[in-house]
Amino acid sequence: MTKKTELLSEFLITRGFVWPSFEIYRSKVEAGGFYDYGPLGVELKHNIIEKWRRIFIYPYQDFIYEIETPIIMPEIVFQASGHIEHFTDFIVECTKCGRKFRADHLVEEQLEKKGIKVRTEGLDEKALEKLIQEHGIKCPACGGELGPVGRFNLLFRTIIGPYSTNVGYIRPETAQGMFVSFPRVFELAGRKLPLGIAQIGKVGRNEISPRQGLIRLREFSQMEIELFFDPENPKCPYLRDVEKVKVRIAPEDKVAEAVQQGKEPEVLELTPIEIVERRLVPNEWMAFFMGLAVIYMNELGVPVDKQFFLAKLPEERAHYAACAFDQMVWSERFGWIEVSGLAYRTDYDLSRHAKYSGRELYAERKLETPKEVEEIRLYPNPQKVREVYGQQAGQVMKLIADIAKDSEKVKQLLDRGSIRIGDYEITKEMVFVKVEKRKITSEKFIPHVVEPSFGIDRIVYVTLEYAFTLVGEGKILLRLPPDIAPIKVAVLPIVKKSPYTDIGRELYRDLARRGLRVVYDDDGSIGTRYSRYDELGVPVAVTIDERTPQDETVTLRDRDTKIQIRAPMREVYSIVRQVIEEKRSLVDIGRERGYEIIVRGS
Ligand code: GLY
Repeated sequence: MTKKTELLSEFLITRGFVWPSFEIYRSKVEAGGFYDYGPLGVELKHNIIEKWRRIFIYPYQDFIYEIETPIIMPEIVFQASGHIEHFTDFIVECTKCGRKFRADHLVEEQLEKKGIKVRTEGLDEKALEKLIQEHGIKCPACGGELGPVGRFNLLFRTIIGPYSTNVGYIRPETAQGMFVSFPRVFELAGRKLPLGIAQIGKVGRNEISPRQGLIRLREFSQMEIELFFDPENPKCPYLRDVEKVKVRIAPEDKVAEAVQQGKEPEVLELTPIEIVERRLVPNEWMAFFMGLAVIYMNELGVPVDKQFFLAKLPEERAHYAACAFDQMVWSERFGWIEVSGLAYRTDYDLSRHAKYSGRELYAERKLETPKEVEEIRLYPNPQKVREVYGQQAGQVMKLIADIAKDSEKVKQLLDRGSIRIGDYEITKEMVFVKVEKRKITSEKFIPHVVEPSFGIDRIVYVTLEYAFTLVGEGKILLRLPPDIAPIKVAVLPIVKKSPYTDIGRELYRDLARRGLRVVYDDDGSIGTRYSRYDELGVPVAVTIDERTPQDETVTLRDRDTKIQIRAPMREVYSIVRQVIEEKRSLVDIGRERGYEIIVRGS
């Protein structure tokens, strides 16, 4: 940690942004990886989420819909999604003290101490064990021998209701809620593609040993969109919205080359349209979301050259992804960290949920020219059915009618010669098979999915780190973008005396009633109060001074430049709105409106 990031850590706790949860029980129990948001943190997180909606959802509301689904989901959802099988990290246990570690992290950390840089992403158990043996890595707590490397599933398990067999899990991503609800939202959207389903909410991952504050949590919040599209029409009609954005990208071939040569990958600077033209992504939607993601992080205060998209190699990708990028952002404390992931999930999730639920999850596309298709039709052969099943023939004929509607079952019967449904074995001899030709004007398909997925808590941290500035004499200035700042205005009577305090309280209440987050403070010298609110990132400080009772004007002070303007008190609300919504500086607004501009020292 640098001096600055050390101060930031302390600042976040003491000023009420965030702090580790269950603090009073920390000495009694291991429960790391959970954080509380304090009053300022809640408001900041809320504003960061709202900005995401303004960039990713509101301008695309005609096809992106936000929903909210449960945090706990039944086991079958995660059997279908593949998380029960694949959502694991590598774990290693000390044979002496019994402490458990995340194996890949332990190897990286221990080797880094020896000045050796290794990339463990994509390595399996055997490869990690080999590194442990080759480099003589021991338990960092007691120096004991480490055991074999195993796999640890990160799902939090629970029981739904009173029956212990009814297993459920806390979702590890909001995404599964969108996949499971796809048929409902698709109907609401008029069965049209492209369709985006968005969700913002909590998720849980039972991390083996989380230690990086807000960067690795066991419970955290995500903002995700599942964008469903026709794979035969992967065009994004909105690519022009991001045509001017500079996206820094380390594409898959450059990453593979860099891994082979043990160096950092080359990063190209391209527009989303160029990314599509160079075929660095498999569809236009990925380039579109890259553009929006850069705009988003930039508006939170992260310069474009402090972010890039890092391609994931096949062995590093999640089990559902055919192509994936991490949006990396530079952090003074943590180095490059992933703030969002962008994955091409193909039809993986919908196909799996269709299989596990028995529901058909498909869309239809109109064919430009009608197509003739051959369909296999099954009809019962009543004589044969009666010969075998006698009195139960009626029942079996109904089963055959059901089988005829299910192409998978028809195929099974014809391929294997028989199919068992409950107590009945139905053979090929019990059916007539007819091949019928039919003209079709549309065909069914399972939509494909591109998913941008943002980790909110990491973004909160990064936003704070970029805003946190040390200015002379140990003073702190939190240069948060005004629309993100938890408090927008501080109302400060010049002295704690009537009529200044009465006027101040009235202004405070008026601004608050009109929906602004505002504080009133008449305690201490005006200079101390300015510093107090600079530290909390309040963009505008309004002072009720000697002139206010005479001419109803106040001064409005800019947090970053300290320049003040004198304006009529009744205009404070509209000025602050301009600062927040139009991203205008106070001086700029003051000049335009012909107000007095005051340049002072603090
Ligand atoms: N939905 C992607 C992720 O949670 O990583």
